[in-house]
Amino acid sequence: MTFRACVLTLFPEMFPGPLGSSIPGRALKAGLWELEALDIRDFATDRHRTVDDTPFGGGAGMVLRPDVVDAAIEAGWPKTGPLVYLTPRGRVLDQELVREFAAQPSLTILCGRYEGVDERVLEAREVTEVSLGDFVLSGGEPAALALLDAVVRLLPGALGATDSLDEESFENGLLEYPHYTRPAVWQGRSVPEVLLSGHHQKVSEWRKARAEAITQTRRPDLWARYTARRAEFTNTAVGGPNGECGQ
Ligand code: ADE
Repeated sequence: MTFRACVLTLFPEMFPGPLGSSIPGRALKAGLWELEALDIRDFATDRHRTVDDTPFGGGAGMVLRPDVVDAAIEAGWPKTGPLVYLTPRGRVLDQELVREFAAQPSLTILCGRYEGVDERVLEAREVTEVSLGDFVLSGGEPAALALLDAVVRLLPGALGATDSLDEESFENGLLEYPHYTRPAVWQGRSVPEVLLSGHHQKVSEWRKARAEAITQTRRPDLWARYTARRAEFTNTAVGGPNGECGQ
């Protein structure tokens, strides 16, 4: 089934943009997903095609009008999947949420500009607010491109035979181990000996140990979750958590 993405934006010319190249571009051409970018301005009702107005209560900036945004939602949202508003105040995106979105038939993304969208339309439509991280973009569009890239590469058939999901960062709760290729010595730096040994078991153990060490030092939050899950598994199940049987 084709995954349907709909983006509601004041800058439809930004799409597909980078999503027309590489993995998402190939998947788009192969019909694994389809993309529609609707111009919010097309839903303005006055002669000047006004989409925003000054905030009640005063203050800087402009706010997108609820009536205009709601008309765009009504036209674009297929209602078979979530309606997402991209904003720094939303739930921070992670691979778990990306997987949830990729399992849906569709994803509709509302991109804000200016100070944002009138709160009432977010309430009325029960919008899911999502953030890319604790920083401020000039609008939701770059966040929508990143979100769709992350989602689309998980669609069945999107990754080529040589790409693998199993061992990449976050799939097993760990950051990725380091990679090396030829030449075996570069600028006096050698590749770790074990990787040249041809001993698959030892390579696996080395990669897992490196992934664990990197996660522990760089991301204590992920490490705490990983060790908690590992403890839970060893208490309740035969065999290890995902991280123990991969790599
Ligand atoms: N719009 C502006 N900044 C954003 C962010 N950090 N995440 C999602 N959407 C945004």
